[in-house]
Parts: sequence; C-alpha cells; structure tokens
Amino acid sequence: MRTPIIAGNWKMYKTVGEAVELVKALLGGLNVGNDREVVVCPPFTALYAVRPLLVGTSVALGAQNVYHEREGAYTGEIAPGMLVDVGCKYVIIGHSERRQYFGESDAGVNRKLHAARAAGLRPIVCVGESKPQRDAGEAEPIVTGQVRAALEGVSAEHMADVVIAYEPIWAIGTGDTATPADAQAMHLAIRRTLAELYGDAVAQAVRIQYGGSVKPDNIDDLMAQPDIDGALVGGASLKAESFLRIVHYR
Ligand code: 13P
Repeated sequence: MRTPIIAGNWKMYKTVGEAVELVKALLGGLNVGNDREVVVCPPFTALYAVRPLLVGTSVALGAQNVYHEREGAYTGEIAPGMLVDVGCKYVIIGHSERRQYFGESDAGVNRKLHAARAAGLRPIVCVGESKPQRDAGEAEPIVTGQVRAALEGVSAEHMADVVIAYEPIWAIGTGDTATPADAQAMHLAIRRTLAELYGDAVAQAVRIQYGGSVKPDNIDDLMAQPDIDGALVGGASLKAESFLRIVHYR
C-alpha cells in the first residue's frame, strides 16, 4: 500500500569527487525491486555531478533545503525550479538543524513546502521534539502541532507528494535512537493527525519516515513497525556499506 522510502541525508559532507564515488559504490551494491524507494540527498554542490549517474537507476535525487521564492535577489538561496532543473525529485524541508541553527519557523517550513510542491518537487517534511520537550511529556502535541503548521493550506490531493519524517532531535547523531515502540507511537499520532486533517484514506497513504541514529543494526526492527514507512538516514548514509544494509532492510 505505502511504498517504503529510505533516504540518505548527507548533510554538509562530501566533495564532488567523494559524492560521485559514494554513488558509484551504492549503485554497485544495490539490489532492490520496486517494493521500496531509495533517495540520496547530497549537498547542493554535488547535485549536478551525481545526477547523470542516477538516471535510469532506482535511486532518486533529493536536496537538503530550498527557498520559497521562484527567483530574485536572494543571495545564497536556491529556488525550487533550480532543484528540478538539476534533476531533484525530493527536497528535505524543515530539518531540525535548519530550525535550530538557521532560525527556520513553522511558518517558513510551510512556505517552503508550498513552493516546493508548486515546482513539482516532493517535500520530505521534518518534525521532531527536543529532549526537554520529551521529558516534559510534550512530545506528541509538539510534533503533531509541527505537522499541522507545516501542512497549513495543503490540499488532500497534494498530500500524495508529501513525505513526513519524524526525527526526534535527541536521537540525531547521538546513537541514542528511539525505541521501535516509541517511534511507532509517534508515527501513529502523526497519522491520526493526518486523518483529522484529510480523512482516513489520505492518512493511510502518506509515508512517514523515522530519522535519528538509524543504523544497520536497528533498521529491521524499526521497519517492522506498522506505521514506520522508511528512514531518513544521516551518518550511516555516508558510507556505501552501511547505507546499503539499511536500504536492504528485511
Ligand atoms: P543521524 O542518522 O546521523 O542520526 O541523522 C539523522 C538525520 O538528521 C537525518 O536527517
């Protein structure tokens, strides 16, 4: 019903040469059918070099950020159409690192989502709570609130293009992954929120990825959960061997 989607977020790693090498190694070891989708999100500088290697393969290209305007005097920003031009199918929006270090707000995430979708990109919208928020028992209202804010004004028909990534901030880059049961509980809460917004059929069709210290040794248990439809992988996506094992989850 939902095709699982495994995406590698390379963050601010890899030169052009390193990116090309990593993609070649991934393609060399990849053995998947159309039962799952695989995406790599290199830094902007490597997109153009990586794109030709992916044409005709089962790996799609994504970017890690985008600006919400179509063009203009916005020094240092990248427009949605530019990402389409360079062959991107997906774009990560509202990653916690962008919210934390670059001041991205829920409203900004919503603007980016609309702009990305209008350009034909599929947004991967990130949500997640901090450790203090979880400890205070606020994780669920915080996360479902982020989902509602990000999706403001997005119609049911457009939800087919949207992927949601639940990434608890305390699990990112820490090795401290959410337990499969805790992740599943939050994914279910997100899906219930989607059902309130769009009805059950749409909610059942939207893919919700888990992110935060996804590794070869925990991917199988995570993917066994009914509402976990994929993974957004940081550190373990930087090496072909570990990312391939994750992509080939059982
Ligand atoms: P890690 O897999 O390194 O914890 O990063 C997760 C992440 O932020 C993916 O977007």
